[in-house]
Amino acid sequence: MLTRVFSSDDPQAPTLAAELIRQGQLVAIPTETVYGLGADGLNEEAVAKIFEAKGRPQDNPLILHIWDASQMALFCHDIPKAAYALAQAFWPGPLTMVLPARDLVPRRTTAGLSTVAVRCPDSFVTREIIRLAGVPIAAPSANVSGKPSTTTAQHVLHDHDGRIAAIVDGGPCRVGVESTIVDLTEDRPRLLRPGGITPEQLIALLGDLVVDKAVTAQIDKDAVVKAPGMKYRHYAPSEPVTIVAGSREKAAAYIHRHFTAGDRVLCFQEELPLYEDCSPLAYGREADVNTLSAGLFAALRELDDPTIHQVYARCPEGGGVAYAVQNRLKKAAAFHIVNAEEET
Ligand code: TXA
Ligand code: MG
Repeated sequence: MLTRVFSSDDPQAPTLAAELIRQGQLVAIPTETVYGLGADGLNEEAVAKIFEAKGRPQDNPLILHIWDASQMALFCHDIPKAAYALAQAFWPGPLTMVLPARDLVPRRTTAGLSTVAVRCPDSFVTREIIRLAGVPIAAPSANVSGKPSTTTAQHVLHDHDGRIAAIVDGGPCRVGVESTIVDLTEDRPRLLRPGGITPEQLIALLGDLVVDKAVTAQIDKDAVVKAPGMKYRHYAPSEPVTIVAGSREKAAAYIHRHFTAGDRVLCFQEELPLYEDCSPLAYGREADVNTLSAGLFAALRELDDPTIHQVYARCPEGGGVAYAVQNRLKKAAAFHIVNAEEET
């Protein structure tokens, strides 16, 4: 299959992409978070193609992308007031809500759950594609399962060239980590995945938030969890990753003591001079966490190289968007963290 590449600037792109979606084909779509691998979310056969192309476990449900908040009630029922408040405040944007699913949403999309995840993405071209297709688009991150997510059209081509109908190239993704997921089906709102909408923003609006244990710890692959996707090893380059916590100086000293040929260092731009002899790769500036979230997955992809033995990674501290960066890096590291203030 020839994978067609449409530029998001091409005025024909939304019409052409929407037509392919209506035909049940796979189209990679840009969003502000990461590229999605999209298909008609109401068409079981089209949705099955997503699982096949990604090699995605069948028990991992998909997010339905809608073009306007008013569509939420078409696919969800018993929508609490909090969901409307969140939609008003943060859509279009990097927030996904889990709500009770209406019967028209196929079980293949929800992986058999009675709930469905919905999101209105902040990409005009993608919202146009959804509107013109006349169906919600089910779209996971477009990476092959287990690999770092796709934040450029080139990443998508690398993983799926020749195996999907088209890619709409909207340039590099602004946020760079996947959307924040909040489950609103229980008494208390629950954070299932941190992202560009921060815990602080959610608490300010909801007054309450439970952080699911899958956010902060490694989950056994046989465990029953709220967000099935959270238990799989994610975002991981082929070699082991160790996060080195602690001050700039202590971390550099620790890494220099342990570094051997074939290792790499993933650090902040400000730290590059400290690692001149350790083959460093910077993923953004510590002083601007948005550059770290935007650059993380491209860096992890670059480090996905079987000739590398081991990666030492530096992780930003604190809340806000840094919380999402920590979550993805810790997952890439399978929660392997050393504290350079204590370890030698
Ligand atoms: O930013 C994003 O959310 C991107 C872009 C393309 O929109 N999409 C994305 O999809 O990250 P994916 O499939 O890579 O991650 C979806 C996560 C998975 O962890 C999945 O288990 C969870 O959402 N999820 C989906 N439906 C759910 C549901 N009904 N209940 C709980 N978790 C759900
Ligand atoms: Mg994903």
